[in-house]
Amino acid sequence: MQIAGLGIHALDRLDALRLAQAREIAVRVIGTYRTVMMTAPERRAAVLEELRRAPGLTAELAKDPPAAGSDDEWPFGQRLLRVNLNLMPLMGVPRWHGLRVVTDHSRHLLFIGMHIPDGDWLNLSVPMEPLRPWHSPQFLVAFVLMTVTAAGLTLWAVRRLTAPVRTLAAAAEALGRDVNAPPLPEGGPSEVATAAAAFNTMAARIRRFVEDRTELLTAIGPDLRTPITRLKLRAEFVEDEEQRGKMLADLEELEAMVSATLAFGRDARTTEPVVSLDLAELLRTVLDETGDAWPDAAAKLGYQGPPHLTVRARSLALKRALANLVSNAVTYGGCARVTLIPPTDGVVVITVEDDGPGIAPSELERVFEPFHRGEPSRNRETGGVGLGLPIARNILRAHGGDVVLANRPMGGVKATLTLPV
Ligand SMILES: Nc1ncnc2c1ncn2[C@@H]1O[C@H](COP(=O)(O)OP(=O)(O)OP(=O)(O)O)[C@@H](O)[C@H]1O
Ligand SMILES: [Mg+2]
Repeated sequence: MQIAGLGIHALDRLDALRLAQAREIAVRVIGTYRTVMMTAPERRAAVLEELRRAPGLTAELAKDPPAAGSDDEWPFGQRLLRVNLNLMPLMGVPRWHGLRVVTDHSRHLLFIGMHIPDGDWLNLSVPMEPLRPWHSPQFLVAFVLMTVTAAGLTLWAVRRLTAPVRTLAAAAEALGRDVNAPPLPEGGPSEVATAAAAFNTMAARIRRFVEDRTELLTAIGPDLRTPITRLKLRAEFVEDEEQRGKMLADLEELEAMVSATLAFGRDARTTEPVVSLDLAELLRTVLDETGDAWPDAAAKLGYQGPPHLTVRARSLALKRALANLVSNAVTYGGCARVTLIPPTDGVVVITVEDDGPGIAPSELERVFEPFHRGEPSRNRETGGVGLGLPIARNILRAHGGDVVLANRPMGGVKATLTLPV
């Protein structure tokens, strides 16, 4: 825009300058011509000698006009000269007979030859300064000032207009990580206020929806426990020992599932605050505690990564997620190698690898479904109920990250956790 403006201004100014220059030169040329014409022929040479002292113009009488030249050179000036020459007879100067104009652009000179009725040519050479439409320093200063001001104003206006959009984007991002994120302020221009109010309503609905779900989950628990306890008592009266044992085992399992479900619901509902924590330290703690729980595998637990890395997260929840993955690696893969990769593009990556049998490709996503287990039995030795991975994924997604599983080419499972910082 500024360049277009500058172009228009320059063209306009070029025209004006050209006209002014032509007028100035024409006045001087005509003046000289008139002086010469009104002087008696024998005194003309002396007059010209006198005129030559004036700077910027040389005039001489010659037998021939300036060499070469055409009628269409210097069109503005030629027109002016012709008009003025045509007016000469009114002032008692004899009518003109010939005009020749030659421009020498390389030397910025203009040669004008005018035929004098007595026979000679009056040849003038006039300097013609090249036109510079933006030569004046004031213009440059004004232009720079104008450009800077316009750019500044545009930037300010754009930032001001897009600020609410940025706030909204940040709020959506925060809501994705935490349903209990604080609401947006509902001030400002009416459109912005309406959008903020709509966003807050949506956030409230999502919050209520999530709360209702977890409420349902936790409310069912105690109601299920009572009949299970009653069934256990009744099972004791079953005569057949084998049947009794199986029934009791099933009931144990059912109870474990209910407890896990309750814990899951409690976890989802807790509003643990986000704090700054040392992720490297947390990983080492998880490995130590896993080593205590599985002394056989203690030697096969390893941590690789920076000694310290501060992130903002929910400490207990994150620890539970990491512990679930490390315990899976140990339980199903016999070892756990944890790697912490410092943030690139604002995302920390943690990998947990083992050397176990891996997971069938069709199961890689299904293992994240609640109560989905590779091994159908839910006996106490081989693990819990099938909530470890869903809980871990739940926690990381609540932090804006995720967990995915993949089989390593050389065998074993590699769990990749992403966590935005
Ligand atoms: N590292 C692994 N290697 C092989 N299979 C795995 C691995 N991690 C998980 N699995 C499979 O995924 C299933 C689901 O795992 P998840 O952690 O959700 O439940 P779980 O370990 O069975 O029980 P818990 O609730 O005690 O964690 C497991 O039963 C197992 O079959
Ligand atoms: Mg598990």
